[in-house]
Amino acid sequence: EEGEFSDKQDISTRRAMSEAASLLLKGGIVAFPTETVYGLGADARSTAAVEAVFAAKGRPSDNPLIVHIAERSQLESLVTEVPPIALTLMDMYWPGPLTIVLPLRPNVLSNRVTAGLDTVGIRMPNHRVALALIQEAGCPVAAPSANRSGRPSPTLASHVQEDLDGRIDGVLDGGPAGVGLESTVVRVFSNGVIQVLRPGGITIEQLGKVKGATVISVGGAYEEAQSAISPEIMTESVQVKKVASEAPRSPGVKYTHYAPQGELSIVRGSSPQAVASEIELLLDKARHDGTMTGLLAFEEHMPFYGLNPANIVISLGSIDTLAEAAHKLYTSLRLFDEMGVAYMLSEACPEEGLGEAIMNRLVKAAGGRIIEIE
Ligand code: TXA
Ligand code: MG
Repeated sequence: EEGEFSDKQDISTRRAMSEAASLLLKGGIVAFPTETVYGLGADARSTAAVEAVFAAKGRPSDNPLIVHIAERSQLESLVTEVPPIALTLMDMYWPGPLTIVLPLRPNVLSNRVTAGLDTVGIRMPNHRVALALIQEAGCPVAAPSANRSGRPSPTLASHVQEDLDGRIDGVLDGGPAGVGLESTVVRVFSNGVIQVLRPGGITIEQLGKVKGATVISVGGAYEEAQSAISPEIMTESVQVKKVASEAPRSPGVKYTHYAPQGELSIVRGSSPQAVASEIELLLDKARHDGTMTGLLAFEEHMPFYGLNPANIVISLGSIDTLAEAAHKLYTSLRLFDEMGVAYMLSEACPEEGLGEAIMNRLVKAAGGRIIEIE
């Protein structure tokens, strides 16, 4: 479990948490740590509080928020039905980075939370501070990521302050978020289909371990970055692994996201040496024009670069594990901003395991700019 209190922190964290809980119950909006990224919480029953969240983030009101719970017993009052496959998912991955979209029970939550949809995304975070806060507030907590809309999601309390200081009622500091990328959002069907609407901390491989389930995802990072939401409802008989852009997806995926202030592109090719030399060429050209440059590269590929290939070089860790890449991605993009980097290049990773979510976020941060080389 993330966010264990140390003895010394225990008392002050608990006090801050009680304060945060009472702020929530008074209609306030408070940022809190989860194991994925920091969330900006509001009492999901309060329209005024939920509207304050949209306003603070500058988030379009047609993009629904997910609802956080601390106990399974809260589910019954929020949704009308839990398919068996959803129960299995909860057994396996809750608390954890998995949001499950279920049929909404009417007249319980503010309709602003779900942007008028008849479904609601529900998640039980695996973070002691988050769980204790939700427990103490005793209400369902609507919480999007605690960034200004379009910015990289916050993985530190200081990121929240950077984006939202003066716009929210408080931040609970729980140290760095563990996973570093948001939860996986899935929709489940009674015939055992699990549809991945947003890749995230629970991988497709992990979802595939569910007995009797067929996992489908709405296309790779590239299609998703480009295509907009379609209102069509997927038939329950779909059995293919990847369906193209006609399937319904999370409303949030149509917006540009996670973008740094400078221009980011991804360079991809089958040989890491060739990718590195192309990257060096492009970075050199930019530097000759006096542009401040940045590079995101995997540890194993560092030897393929010369000395100081960019003004700021950040290692994403091992391309074999990818946990460090997930953990560092948003922090790195924010660091580039802070340092005034105007031109950035990133290596790509295979879209497998956590790599699916990493590439999904990278492609969005790059506004779809991918340089393919031989
Ligand atoms: O890890 C996370 O999920 C973080 C932490 C704070 O829990 N939260 C987060 O929330 O990333 P947000 O609002 O930034 O992203 C929620 C995503 C959006 O893409 C939204 O469109 C989608 O979930 N979503 C929410 N409700 C939905 C629904 N009923 N149907 C389909 N997609 C939904
Ligand atoms: Mg977000």
